[in-house]
Amino acid sequence: MAAYWPEPIVSVQALSQTGVTTVPSRYVKPSHQRPVLNSAQSDAEMEIPVLDMGDVWGKPEGLMLVRKACEEWGFFQMVNHGVNHALMEKVRGAWREFFELPIDEKRKFANSPDTYEGYGSRLGVVKDAKLDWSDYFYLNYLPSSIRNPSKWPSHPTKIREFIEEYGEEVKKLCERLVETLSESLGLEPNCLMKALGGEDKVGASLRTNFYPKCPQPHLTLGLSSHSDPGGITILLPDEKVSGLQVRRGDGWVTVKSVPNALVVNMGDQIQILSNGIYKSVEHQVIVNPGMDRVSLAFFYNPRSDIPIGPVEELLTESRPALYKPIRFDEYRLLIRQNGPSGKNQVDSLLSSK
Ligand code: OGA
Ligand code: NI
Repeated sequence: MAAYWPEPIVSVQALSQTGVTTVPSRYVKPSHQRPVLNSAQSDAEMEIPVLDMGDVWGKPEGLMLVRKACEEWGFFQMVNHGVNHALMEKVRGAWREFFELPIDEKRKFANSPDTYEGYGSRLGVVKDAKLDWSDYFYLNYLPSSIRNPSKWPSHPTKIREFIEEYGEEVKKLCERLVETLSESLGLEPNCLMKALGGEDKVGASLRTNFYPKCPQPHLTLGLSSHSDPGGITILLPDEKVSGLQVRRGDGWVTVKSVPNALVVNMGDQIQILSNGIYKSVEHQVIVNPGMDRVSLAFFYNPRSDIPIGPVEELLTESRPALYKPIRFDEYRLLIRQNGPSGKNQVDSLLSSK
């Protein structure tokens, strides 16, 4: 992978803070990709499911709820998920403070496309690509052998501690969810975790997204349409500002976050492992003229050096393997080169192609 970005990096937050009144053409999306804003949301009634995890863990009816949410939406919000609410506030607040630091402080952590670790403003290395209206900080969390807190922000002072504490709790939540997903597919509780490479070998990373306010939100996106490449994603959304939209048919449903909820969605590897029973659903982020937005996406991924293909127990004569196996490190490389591009990446693994 390239060691350098194809063009100089511009911090979108710094750009936004100059008070620009128009969006530079680098961020103006072609008209078919632009968001539809403030439409009396055609799906006003539509919302992604909200599950009280107290009704899910260890309950047969809970498995049905999970299965339905995963089949119909690929997304759900979780309340009663077990992650400490005060810790959620603290880690999000610390990240907000980090992004408020002067640009020179943040640039000390500037990332490059070879690992993506650090502070950055673009996904993909395609020259002249249209860019998204956001900055981010990306760090590796699991396996702990690749965790390198010295590459994490050092200000505000407690941020590393909060990241570790939050990471530990979310990791436990993911372990529990993987077991539940496994059962909801009719598999042994540990089947999916085994297929992901085992608790000690799975990968995880954290991307904190910063979506600066934008003078012309109808022309651009905070994050272009994509499906998440990995296993499952746990999103801690902004407490005040919405922005996440989930694909529903030809349209988009804006997630209205419930207080203290976490959002979970299925990534491409779950689509592959479940042989398409569960789908990694496309999503995107819209921005707005008045408020910055912060979100934390915790990506829980398979072990990166083993082939990931449909779980054998799910294959039948009438439903043979739909996807060709691929290692996650190879898969991620494709994504890192191309940037967000809907569902093109996972579709390229279809056996029929
Ligand atoms: C992501 C993502 C959504 C959000 O980081 O992959 O989809 O609301 N984030 O920031
Ligand atoms: Ni995503």
